[in-house]
Amino acid sequence: MAGPTHVTTEGWSSRWAFILAAIGAAVGLGNVWRFPTLAGENGGGAFVLFYIGCVVLIGLPLILSEIIIGRAGRSDAVGSVRNVAEQSGVSRGWTTFGWMEIISAFLILSFYSVVAGWVIYYAGVMGGDFFGNLFSGAPFAGALQGEEAEAIQGRMTSLFGNIPLLLAMHTVFMGVTYAIVARGVHDGIEKAALYLMPAFFVLLIAITIYGAFVGNFGQAVAFMFTPDFSKLDAPAMNAALGQALFSMSLGSAALITYGAYVSKDTKLPPTAAMIAVADTGVAIIAGLMIFPIVFAVGLDPAAGPTLVFQSLPVAFQQMPGGSLIGFLFFVLIFFAALTSSISLLEGPVSWGINELGWSRFKSATIFSLAIFIVGIACLLSLNVWSDVRLLPFWSIFAESSIFDVIDGFTGKVMLPVAAFLTAIFIGWRADKKLVAAETGLEGGLFALWRFLVAWLAPIGVAVILVFGLFPGLLA
Ligand code: TRP
Repeated sequence: MAGPTHVTTEGWSSRWAFILAAIGAAVGLGNVWRFPTLAGENGGGAFVLFYIGCVVLIGLPLILSEIIIGRAGRSDAVGSVRNVAEQSGVSRGWTTFGWMEIISAFLILSFYSVVAGWVIYYAGVMGGDFFGNLFSGAPFAGALQGEEAEAIQGRMTSLFGNIPLLLAMHTVFMGVTYAIVARGVHDGIEKAALYLMPAFFVLLIAITIYGAFVGNFGQAVAFMFTPDFSKLDAPAMNAALGQALFSMSLGSAALITYGAYVSKDTKLPPTAAMIAVADTGVAIIAGLMIFPIVFAVGLDPAAGPTLVFQSLPVAFQQMPGGSLIGFLFFVLIFFAALTSSISLLEGPVSWGINELGWSRFKSATIFSLAIFIVGIACLLSLNVWSDVRLLPFWSIFAESSIFDVIDGFTGKVMLPVAAFLTAIFIGWRADKKLVAAETGLEGGLFALWRFLVAWLAPIGVAVILVFGLFPGLLA
């Protein structure tokens, strides 16, 4: 039996460093932007319940599976899977899903950075509004004061029409992500999580309390927790599952890669549970932060992806202290996005380091540039390339722009397929003793976890995937 090859030389300085970084990877635009958007579009309560089911029954067992692959394989997503496959005496062909995960991370970061760029812009607009008098004449000064609701909403349209501005923000975001990842696991990734995550939680709680007092909390709670199962059709279920995977950073290298840096004496199951609980908790709190404000000024909770960017600023402008709160709100989203983008970049970067023997600096530079360039295509598809269709022959993507295809294809296809293969690999093919030793679970708990990984997760993912992608099958 060959020992692990291409192993990493880096590691977390403590168990908490890992937990914070992994929560940072999980908590991101997915929680604060995508989750409220999807919950709003899919009718609230029933979606939220189904989502929580996906987290507990599919997400949590898979978080543990991915971290196990990383810690047992001690390499990047491809190398770790190969090492575990070799130690288990099964085909190296399993590395296919390791590849898929790295490609997904690459693609996701390309549009993620563009969206994070909007966040920076809105933080600038809101901050400009608040600090306007201090810095009059600055480009964002007094941005929203006296603006009509329509003009505020129009800002998103004009942002999408402004290629240099979009490009500048995308550049800033990728640049910061690059600077952190290039510094390494210890000096970059874990330091960033150490400062950004506590700041994020403080802001989240503060703004939620503000919204509860100033906004319409009761209506928000009713909206998020009153289930109407007639709204929960197959595409809504597919969206919920895809969102659960996306939000917990499953299926795209992040947790395998971070798992490789975990020391052997860290207990994995409680750590995995903390990641799932924190991520889901933040998604729900983010809903309770956003919807009271949305309802207070009578906006539409089903506004879609523009909810956070187009609707909320209107609400903020009408509320006491709104421009300061709005500014802090976008700073909060920026922090969340940054710790996630770091994890997205680290997947491909660790592959370059471990498999190609590149230095961290070289790998981070090459991948950041490549992702930056694909991101430009996403960005142009908001604008001059809005009519370009990458998958015109596939009905669910026929009308989708480059941006929407990359977002939709990774979320609806690649992440679920990788999650399915991870479950089969750990549930059926990986050496049972090795897996049991890594989990440290015994008896009934181990049996339960294995049942979820071997049976429920793959079947659940496969069923939802097939009906979600081919809704015609149900008709
Ligand atoms: N989980 C992050 C979010 O919710 C996004 C993210 C970070 C991610 N790393 C990932 C998604 C890896 C998929 C795979 O915003």
